[in-house]
Amino acid sequence: VPARAGGVVTALAEVLGVPVPIVLGPFGGVSSVRLAALVSERGGLGSFGLYGYPPDRIAETAAELRAGTSRPFALNLWLPDDVPSPATLGKAGFSAAAAALRPLSDELGLGPAAPPDRFVPDFAGQLDAVLEARPRVVSFVFGVPAPRTVERIHAVGASVVGTATTVAEAVALEAGGVDAVVATGSEAGGHRVSFLRAAEESLVGTFALIPQVADAVAIPVIAAGGIADRRGVAAAFALGASGVQVGTAFLRTGQSAAPASHRRLIPETAPEETVLTRAMSGRLARGRPNRMIRLIEASGRIAPFPAQNWLTGRLRAQAASRDQADLLALWMGQAARLAVLEQAEDVFTELEAGIPRGAEA
Ligand SMILES: Cc1cc2nc3c(=O)[nH]c(=O)nc-3n(C[C@H](O)[C@H](O)[C@H](O)COP(=O)(O)O)c2cc1C
Repeated sequence: VPARAGGVVTALAEVLGVPVPIVLGPFGGVSSVRLAALVSERGGLGSFGLYGYPPDRIAETAAELRAGTSRPFALNLWLPDDVPSPATLGKAGFSAAAAALRPLSDELGLGPAAPPDRFVPDFAGQLDAVLEARPRVVSFVFGVPAPRTVERIHAVGASVVGTATTVAEAVALEAGGVDAVVATGSEAGGHRVSFLRAAEESLVGTFALIPQVADAVAIPVIAAGGIADRRGVAAAFALGASGVQVGTAFLRTGQSAAPASHRRLIPETAPEETVLTRAMSGRLARGRPNRMIRLIEASGRIAPFPAQNWLTGRLRAQAASRDQADLLALWMGQAARLAVLEQAEDVFTELEAGIPRGAEA
């Protein structure tokens, strides 16, 4: 292990508080306590995505995680944006996007959508609940956390992890005081979490992104996007990462909270079959296209985030209860076909085999 890599690896173990530099990616909406606890029990860092969770659910989830593992885990939040509230979007904007979804809500037996008081819970309340839950790590997407937020997290003894899709975003996160950065290439499943430029202009692949981020920042770099087996892990370390964050390969396992039909489709999806679309949430995300995406794209009416996510969310929750894959958000990355293992335990063992000697704390 080169001298620099050795130093950085130690730094990452200190930042995350775990011996094995494998992070389970958070899955907003489909995170699983069981899966996160399993990864933490194995010596990695289990993360839980709290997107859309109000404070009381955050407290409950943290208690469940604590019951599942005594080891460190991460809680993940989406930073707020000056995005529309039901009030600023207006009745007309809401109705137009809702009308485009009407055939699907009728089909699912749901009535027409009435605008809620808010599309997402208040961030300040979420952050308070996260701080009270005392996780080892708080990770963020969609921006640089405010200085006061970083300070408050550090004050409770937790580390802050930010997420970058470009070199400039990684540099901005480091300047904002985060302790480590997830650099996520455009292969990754789920949302493109870009915040400095449009997501469409921030589509750097993992192979090009990791070494350039590693050159640009002194904080440890966690590679994400397209890593699904020992080869991907070994490559990430060779490129200058000191850890990996894996989503799709874990999402496919029996311990994940994704509906069975979603899990089954993951290893059946060829790398060129996933697409980037704004149809589901108003923000760009990678997944397998289905009838819902095609219908929304054809309508040409997509409300901005988070309105669109709220509108499709009602439908997706109903579709999930019926395990109806044509009306779910089938988020997955370009390495989906590599996700052949059905047990999270086996995925962890496979990934661990790619860690270079000396890189575990
Ligand atoms: C269904 C799904 C939901 C996701 N939700 C979040 C999230 O809420 N917060 C976050 O930081 N990353 C989220 N991600 C990204 C993953 O945590 C991880 O970084 C990504 O999946 C890595 O790329 P891979 O899918 O190629 O392994 C999500 C990914 C998927 C597939």
